[in-house]
Amino acid sequence: MLSAVTVPTVPHEGQKPGTSGLRKKVKVFLQENYTENFIQSIIDALGKDVVGSTLVVGGDGRYLVKEVVDLIIKISAANGVSRLLVGQNGILSTPAVSCIIRKYKTLGGIVLTASHNPGGIDNDFGIKYNCSNGGPAPDQTTNEIYKLTTAIKEYKIVPELKCAIDKIGVQNFTVEGKPFVVEVIDSVRDYVDYMKEIFDFPLIKRLIQGSEQRKPFNVLIDSMNGVTGPYVQRVFVEELGASEKNVRRVVPLEDFGGAHPDPNLTYAADLVNAVKSGDYDFGAAFDGDGDRNMIIGRGAFFVTPSDSLAVLANNLHHIPYFQRTGVRGFARSMPTAAAVDRVAAAKGQEMFEVPTGWKYFGNLMDAGRLSLCGEESFGTGSDHVREKDGLWAALAWLSVLAATGKSVEDILKSHWAEFGRNYFTRYDYEECASDPCNEMMQVLEKRITEPGFVGSAHDSADKTYVVKLADNFSYMDPIDQSVSMKQGLRIIFEDGSRIVMRLSGTGSSGATVRLYIDSYEAKNVVGDAQVMLRPLIDVALQLSQLPQYTGRDAPTVIT
Ligand code: G6P
Ligand code: ZN
Repeated sequence: MLSAVTVPTVPHEGQKPGTSGLRKKVKVFLQENYTENFIQSIIDALGKDVVGSTLVVGGDGRYLVKEVVDLIIKISAANGVSRLLVGQNGILSTPAVSCIIRKYKTLGGIVLTASHNPGGIDNDFGIKYNCSNGGPAPDQTTNEIYKLTTAIKEYKIVPELKCAIDKIGVQNFTVEGKPFVVEVIDSVRDYVDYMKEIFDFPLIKRLIQGSEQRKPFNVLIDSMNGVTGPYVQRVFVEELGASEKNVRRVVPLEDFGGAHPDPNLTYAADLVNAVKSGDYDFGAAFDGDGDRNMIIGRGAFFVTPSDSLAVLANNLHHIPYFQRTGVRGFARSMPTAAAVDRVAAAKGQEMFEVPTGWKYFGNLMDAGRLSLCGEESFGTGSDHVREKDGLWAALAWLSVLAATGKSVEDILKSHWAEFGRNYFTRYDYEECASDPCNEMMQVLEKRITEPGFVGSAHDSADKTYVVKLADNFSYMDPIDQSVSMKQGLRIIFEDGSRIVMRLSGTGSSGATVRLYIDSYEAKNVVGDAQVMLRPLIDVALQLSQLPQYTGRDAPTVIT
């Protein structure tokens, strides 16, 4: 029999979960009792439900995942959890955790990831709690966890418990006279089974393999050495008949092979170049934990996440899951371009605009009012799980391409011809000094909320923009009426163009400023976004004085 011991501890500062869990440098997590404190606080926040519960545990394979899985096993055992479902070798993508929580109706799950942030001993790690609906814990829970971290005095652990997580199977233990079970599960099986229910795999397989009527549709799928490698291998190579040449970087590595596993034009430039110079019809990349996606077409034709959402919204009827469930509402985060709003209006669907963060979609999905949603930050997903889902997005696109027989570029062009185009760009200024950025945001908020700002005119190049509305975005959840304040500064002009500015909630050091520009054109739809948006970008830089506050004359990343 194994015994639990109680270890005295003192609080660590700064264990406040951000947009998506607690994210810090690995070395911060390695401080004495830092990780133990946070895990114990998660468990304490669950209250008495934890006794006898089942939790899912897994992560994106980055440095420290295995060690922290081991700690979670030992601490859970000491706190009366009765069963853990652990991904083999600690590997589970974020959408797979969501899928498994829902399928096995567990109390929740702990996801070990810093998402798209680089990994390795000098980079980032993260811990996130997901609830029984499979979605990220709401603010109320993360605030409670944080409160507990500030007052923690002890944690409980079973130090002698030894559990191997490299072999699939059930391991039984007796802890303080009670049974405790760790079930090491196949990291991909449940998720892949689910994808086969959602999509028409034979249809996608015919697309990829080609037929007498159609040559093979050549895909290039890039896992960026993140967690999706084994999922991509199983889905694309084993199920859909793609060859090893159609997949790249499919081995999860603790440091992502030095890659910054964020699927965008800058960090996935390798994929973009390969698709540009090769004979490929389609490219997709996913982030470290598998919830983000980037979609490109032949010649590396880039699909903005906002357009991707709109195109999928317009084509859901090609996907078996939605043929069964019907379509109930669309949503996007506030900074996301409003392209999907036009599809919602045309289809008579309810449309929601929520703050940045996937957690805000969960209530709407649980209430049956939301089927498809997305964010400009390369997140797309549906109510099949409660996380965004990179691989799902690629399969959704391939379903639409297979059903329509069009190329990616043709789909976009006909979409814009029908609905008009929301030109969109995002400028990121990474790792700036925090104080001046906070000051910049305060000053800008003051300026745009002063009397007289609404109605004021701003000239740039040959354009004049007149302010229609300006505020710090706040949101009331239509389901539980909870209110989230100060979710980003937005300036909306008479012609519907928007400037949005907010500070990132996912960085691990310094401040990252995000500037989002969205401008609608009904007819002039095939221009270059950077050229089309230049006047509005200049207005934004002028109004915010961003170059002066940050000392930067150019963004780190443009998407
Ligand atoms: C995570 C969340 C997304 C959110 C993004 C925002 O990826 O899961 O839902 O859009 O963070 O990140 P930011 O750095 O802009 O706060
Ligand atoms: Zn992610």
